[in-house]
Amino acid sequence: MKASVSSVLLALGLLFRPGQCIPKRGNEPWSVILCKFKNSHYEPRTAEWIREWISAGNNPDTVESFFSSVSNGLYDIKGSNVTEWLKLPWSRHDVYRMALTDRRLQSNKKEKPFALFDKAKQLCISFAQLHGYELNEKKITIINSEQTAVYGNENGVLLSPKLIFTSVLAHEMVHSLNIGHSYSDRYKRYDDAYDLMSTANAHMRPSTYGLSGPGLNGPHLNYLGWLPMDRIIYFGRDGQMNRTISMSSLSVPHRLTSDSLLILIPYDRDEPANVYTVEYRTVFGNDASIGSSGILIHKVEKFGDAFYSHLITYVNHVYDELTAGTEWISFLHRDEHYNFQYIRVKVENLQKKLHSAEIRVISTFDPSACRKYEQRIATERKDTVDSVCLRHNRAITYKDIEVQRKRNLFYKLRATFGQNECHEGMRWRAIDAYDYVCVIPERVAIEQVTSWRKKKRHSFCYSGQKRRRAFEGDNVCVSSEEFERTQKENMDAYKYLKHLSFFNGQDKIRAIHSALSETQIKIMSTTRDRAVLSRILNPLMPSEDISNNNDVAVDKPIEHEGYAESKELEKQGVRTAEGGDVNAAIEIFTRAISTCDINPSAYNNRAQAYRLVEKNEEALADLNRAIELSEEQGKSGCQAFVQRAMIHRLKGDDDAARADFEKAANLGSSFAKLQLVALNPYAAMCNKMLSEVFQNLREGKECQESK
Ligand SMILES: *[C@@H]1O[C@H](CO)[C@@H](O)[C@H](O)[C@H]1NC(C)=O
Ligand SMILES: *[C@@H]1O[C@H](CO)[C@@H](O)[C@H](O)[C@H]1NC(C)=O
Repeated sequence: MKASVSSVLLALGLLFRPGQCIPKRGNEPWSVILCKFKNSHYEPRTAEWIREWISAGNNPDTVESFFSSVSNGLYDIKGSNVTEWLKLPWSRHDVYRMALTDRRLQSNKKEKPFALFDKAKQLCISFAQLHGYELNEKKITIINSEQTAVYGNENGVLLSPKLIFTSVLAHEMVHSLNIGHSYSDRYKRYDDAYDLMSTANAHMRPSTYGLSGPGLNGPHLNYLGWLPMDRIIYFGRDGQMNRTISMSSLSVPHRLTSDSLLILIPYDRDEPANVYTVEYRTVFGNDASIGSSGILIHKVEKFGDAFYSHLITYVNHVYDELTAGTEWISFLHRDEHYNFQYIRVKVENLQKKLHSAEIRVISTFDPSACRKYEQRIATERKDTVDSVCLRHNRAITYKDIEVQRKRNLFYKLRATFGQNECHEGMRWRAIDAYDYVCVIPERVAIEQVTSWRKKKRHSFCYSGQKRRRAFEGDNVCVSSEEFERTQKENMDAYKYLKHLSFFNGQDKIRAIHSALSETQIKIMSTTRDRAVLSRILNPLMPSEDISNNNDVAVDKPIEHEGYAESKELEKQGVRTAEGGDVNAAIEIFTRAISTCDINPSAYNNRAQAYRLVEKNEEALADLNRAIELSEEQGKSGCQAFVQRAMIHRLKGDDDAARADFEKAANLGSSFAKLQLVALNPYAAMCNKMLSEVFQNLREGKECQESK
């Protein structure tokens, strides 16, 4: 009964739900589930506080306000609601065990480290439903222990006590809009200080509910369709290659300004969405804490299926923003006449108080020119493609002609452009300046001519008419046929988008028709940060996962007749433990120890198994022995310190934990170094260091290179 009711609701809800397509527009209420483990009464914040934080009242600091300001009112989460604190009938350990025995969670190697959090989300969500809460499709689960913030496609966002503040929550929510982390050309990931998707390394501002902001960078806003199409310039489309452009700050509401908000400067003759973007950010609103007002340049570039944005730094990677009088230049390549093609951006004037800037852009990018290493070869055609650029003189194929046609018509083909470009021949419907729905040219809205911004609300419709509802707030009265047609255009829009892919990551995009989709489109997101975070924050995480590369031996050699056999037994034990029978594994490790009682790694492994069945005293005894046998050196010494530190941490003895982590860190464990930082939730959240360390973890360098 319950199931059928909710599927009816979903089907009805579909019409007005945003999210059938990228860009993202409309109202989308979220549900927040407050969830305590059985063994802890701790409530980091009252339900009332969280309710206010999410959406209540007129406070400009709520999460709701953040989204409506960053999207200029296009996307809001009005109607989101929050449960009371619910107490699970399971302790954290119970949930952890359930996660360990959940085949589905354990079978996906990438997801394994998050099994605890995934399980917690699953259980909390089901438990809330059991209590009669109707939950929205987008969910946030807040638990009362751990330190993490993660997003997963299936069960949404999870937050833990220390990370209950706006920047973190909004960051995770934006992942659900198909966006990964932002980058710079300096340290790569998490290094775009002007973008929410680099939270922790970004310019966050103080707010009533902890740190908030900053806004999103220009490329992200373009991707989401949160910039008006008539205020984005695709440079060169009008034939002008040297011009001064007046820009308005992206930081202030669009309605308060009137100049261009984003310039897209193409540099790739075969991928028109590869562009440098120019934007102006000022100290205002979500961006109240940015260092100084300035012009930012990002490079948007396609890798694999997805586009990425890198903040471009200049002068030895020191400065992110260009200030008045500064100039940036990028040389592209030499053309057939041996001229360099280049792009120059000069900041002529910044009016910080007025949030306006004057930028001169000069580009000699010419998509139809051949490169210096190419030859121009005549085609004997009389249309636009009378010659093509080839490296070697050879027979011209149809493909050569097509490639050259697109280069020659490069600007003419840009009726639509940027991340929301439509397939060739389609146009933006443009009922208003944010209406990026791709339609056939005949369907381009006529009324756009009569000013988007002065549209009146129709107070009633004649009989037979309906509100069009092309988007939230569109109350124009139209015939039923027109209404149906508009709705169908909305539903189909994603089919005509040229770049329907995740942004800043290689993940799958969230199900287009998620409510109707039979097959769950699985796993997007931030698998990588989650891996790191879980390794840091989950004290029971077997350390075998941390250093899964056992090939490189840095332990001192052991001479003992039983050693080889002991090693074999160890491997067998590990397999048995991985198969789920930890007690049998303990027996096998015990045999490995009796076969060679000076083999520290057998003690390490048995300790790990003991920890899994919560025999921490036994584990501790083994680790002490492993440390002794390894003489505090090598991989075994390092692993034993890491494990012992985790037990100390579990017992709440942070000082002892720190001492052991320090020893492990000195033996080269970057995991231990991170643990040392982990007490600081910002550091633990999302920062560049994490991604570097994660790389090491993946490459199996952990506990191998002593420094
Ligand atoms: C949110 O409000 C709706 C409608 O009042 C209700 O059915 C639902 O249970 C509420 N959900 C939560 C999480 O409080
Ligand atoms: C661009 O235009 C300005 C002003 O019209 C002119 O002074 C300058 O020489 C031009 N630059 C190039 C490279 O054409």
